[in-house]
Amino acid sequence: MSSAVAGRPPVPSAPPAAVLCGLGGWLPPRLVTNDDLAERLDTDDTWIRTRTGIGSRHTIEPGQATSDLAVEAGRRALDSSGDSSVDAVVVATTTPDRTCPATAPLVAARLGLAGAAAFDVAAVCTGFVYGLATAAGLIAAGTARRVLVTGADTYSTIVDPADRANAIIFGDGAGAVVLRAGHPDEPGALGPFDLGSDGAHEDMIMVAAGGSRSRPEPGRTSRADLHFAMRGKEVYRNAVTRMAESARTVLDRAGWKPADVDLFAPHQANLRILHSVADDLELPRERCLTHLRSVGNTGAASIPLALADTAARTPVEPGSRLLLTAFGGGLTWGSCVLTWPALSAPVPPPYQGEDTTP
Ligand code: COA
Repeated sequence: MSSAVAGRPPVPSAPPAAVLCGLGGWLPPRLVTNDDLAERLDTDDTWIRTRTGIGSRHTIEPGQATSDLAVEAGRRALDSSGDSSVDAVVVATTTPDRTCPATAPLVAARLGLAGAAAFDVAAVCTGFVYGLATAAGLIAAGTARRVLVTGADTYSTIVDPADRANAIIFGDGAGAVVLRAGHPDEPGALGPFDLGSDGAHEDMIMVAAGGSRSRPEPGRTSRADLHFAMRGKEVYRNAVTRMAESARTVLDRAGWKPADVDLFAPHQANLRILHSVADDLELPRERCLTHLRSVGNTGAASIPLALADTAARTPVEPGSRLLLTAFGGGLTWGSCVLTWPALSAPVPPPYQGEDTTP
């Protein structure tokens, strides 16, 4: 007999924790090195490496789109979780296949998951952390038991190839995780989040035309308005400040000290940004993932891709403590902590070719 039937209110039970149980990444095979860019832009390998830490990036072929990458990453994440079913699919992206509808239902259908709830999250480079928070909320509320969260972007479709300031930074890719309902003490359990935004600076990172504010009009919309624009120096300063502040907030909420963090997985914006944030937090730089050296900034994909690449190449003890932090257009920022998961199957590298890391 339940306590409610006996006339007493039911004893509230703790909501389930979200536990990461699957991980995968996918990069399109076409590799673009700094030297390739220097053949058509006024730039060079030394400038790019010195200012950004990036050695190469991957791009899709004409005709490919974000969902193609999200499906591959999602399949790998489901495989590594040992279970191909989920109740919800979240795709974090700034480069959806179309303005309407969302990309997630198509990704779900192509993964054999038609029927699952499916929607996109738009928070630019913070999108994956927002997606994780959303999925963790669905699990805590009992709305879903298993959720596939994908970060996928094809910046090559919005960056002007003639824009040397941005063409050197961004690459295409996708990363995905599976979250399931579980216990907060299990390896892979997610801890607290910190999320924030400041829309007063929406024009710091922007594609001006294409939405309801400014529909593209043949002959009237400028080439610049159709492409990605960023005020690099201001973004740089804001990224360092916001990521460090958000990371500190979430560490406080979790009761962790920076020294407790075994692996730091920041959004892969620029190596100098990552090192500044690590230094600010007094985290040894060796604990900071630097996947961007070979893939550039892959937007919402960058954190799950860096995790998948680490899982494929480096043994990490399940239960090791992880800090994720991101910053992006909006402005948006966000962080969370979790522990390294115990996965059912190995994670293949997101890309099998030559690594151009210096
Ligand atoms: N190759 C060679 N020179 C370049 C160049 C390139 N690809 N891009 C810009 N330059 C030139 C500029 O024209 C400028 O020349 P000038 O001094 O003659 O005017 C000079 O290099 C310095 O440009 P500046 O924009 O001041 O460089 P920077 O040191 O700020 O570096 C970024 C530019 C974009 C690398 C840097 O601002 C940055 O990393 N910002 C953050 C970007 C980011 O991470 N965004 C994602 C956040 S989610």
